[in-house]
Amino acid sequence: GSTLQAAASGSGRYFGTAIAASRLSDGTYSGIANREFNMITAENEMKADATEPNQNQFNFTNGDRILSWAQSNGKRVRGHALAWYSQQPGWMQNMSGSSLRSAMLNHVTQVAGHYKGKIYAWDVVNEAFADGSSGARRDSNLQRTGNDWIEAAFKAARSADSGAKLCYNDYNTDNWSDAKTQAVYTMVKDFKSRGVPIDCVGFQSHFNSQSPVPSNYQTTLQNFANLGVDVQITELDIEGSGSSQASSYQRVVQACLAVSRCTGITVWGVRDSDSWRSSGTPLLFDGSGNKKAAYTSVLNAL
Ligand code: XIL
Repeated sequence: GSTLQAAASGSGRYFGTAIAASRLSDGTYSGIANREFNMITAENEMKADATEPNQNQFNFTNGDRILSWAQSNGKRVRGHALAWYSQQPGWMQNMSGSSLRSAMLNHVTQVAGHYKGKIYAWDVVNEAFADGSSGARRDSNLQRTGNDWIEAAFKAARSADSGAKLCYNDYNTDNWSDAKTQAVYTMVKDFKSRGVPIDCVGFQSHFNSQSPVPSNYQTTLQNFANLGVDVQITELDIEGSGSSQASSYQRVVQACLAVSRCTGITVWGVRDSDSWRSSGTPLLFDGSGNKKAAYTSVLNAL
């Protein structure tokens, strides 16, 4: 194919990007996004601080703007994210215990319910494990409501939208040798064995010189897939430039294509100038919207 979405479709996969509602009026941005990508993630607009700014008062204005842009252009949407320690509204940050547990479950129910039937996959829980060698859960107000908060969130999401695939999403879970990867794997294996509803695992895949694409990345994706879940690369960006960046992107695409249950790849933004990273050039298009070497290597690898 001559675009990322067309090339990915050749093997039944999608190629997506994160979209910021505020940038859709930029014709260069929306033109590239519409041409190249067929799966859309709201970069911030479906997070809890955006969708429930006051408790039990929901605001779907910007999330709906992204959904309707995607739908009117024939694209599917990944929902991001229902339960997360970060980007919580102030009222939620100040809650704890059983009242927080109820508020979290209500949030999952209301947001997944609002978007029922319109979402390909939800990141139900995002970033719930600690970095480093502990293999422990990340400490957070949600974690302190009890270790079963993650499965409770998944069950609420399934009840609210039985048609959406339900994903656990995290970063630094790419290297099979890392304690964090093993801890997430153990949780998913446990969920599958006990019938907790989980359909997919998202690998954010924010790579840089400190955390490059690991040599066992494909092994990690395959081992998770072997548990009976789909795997997806959900927030890909890679610091660097030129041929070294291009070859890292190529390795990520090759790893996904080698795993039959790796159903798609999403990059976290369109142009380098749209990236959440404060510096660097981590994406596939430069600030003027020109295709980079990384773009060409991805297209050729798909
Ligand atoms: C980032 C957005 O890109 C930024 O605009 C925002 O300021 C902070 O969040 N992991 C995630 C994403 O799951 O939601 C984060 O997105 C990047 C890291």
